[in-house]
Amino acid sequence: MEYKIGLLFHMFGLSLIAGGFLGGYLVEKRFWKLVEIDISHAGSVLPIMKTLPVIIQVGVLIQVISGTLLLQSASWAFWGQAWLSIKLILVALALANGLLVGKKLGAKIGFQVFSAAPDKVALAVLKRKMISFNLIQLALTVGILVLATVFR
Ligand code: HEM
Repeated sequence: MEYKIGLLFHMFGLSLIAGGFLGGYLVEKRFWKLVEIDISHAGSVLPIMKTLPVIIQVGVLIQVISGTLLLQSASWAFWGQAWLSIKLILVALALANGLLVGKKLGAKIGFQVFSAAPDKVALAVLKRKMISFNLIQLALTVGILVLATVFR
């Protein structure tokens, strides 16, 4: 029963992470389009752009709790195995990258969009950095999924 509840919540957390990613991709696409055509309206998209990472973080928290339950249900037999150790390192890296790099980038983008005279060149640099950040997060997540399935 403990295993089934752990697995159910692990899938639930994964759904939140995937939903947050997809929503973030669509909202960011709309945001950068607005920056291009009518920057005065781009700020209206920022609140949802700030909420989606929180949904992903809640998903990661659920993964940590349900993952611990899964470990417990298997009497910690997986503990110390390479796939799990590397997976936990990737989870920590993704979390740190989101909280340190992603949050800062979001704040800088918000500052530009709400400033009286937004700097389009600075915004283009921030857009490139945001795309790289998103690709790194995606690669880390795919790595976590491959480790949890193919290499388990
Ligand atoms: C972003 C974070 C995470 C993602 C996307 C993720 C994803 C997955 C997936 C897709 C599986 C395969 C499920 C299956 O067996 O059908 C899995 C299994 C597992 N995960 Fe995670 N996980 C994450 C974080 C964690 C954490 C933090 C822990 C430990 C604290 C953990 C512990 C486990 C364990 C022990 C299993 C094996 C369950 C079993 O088959 O008995 N996971 N994970």
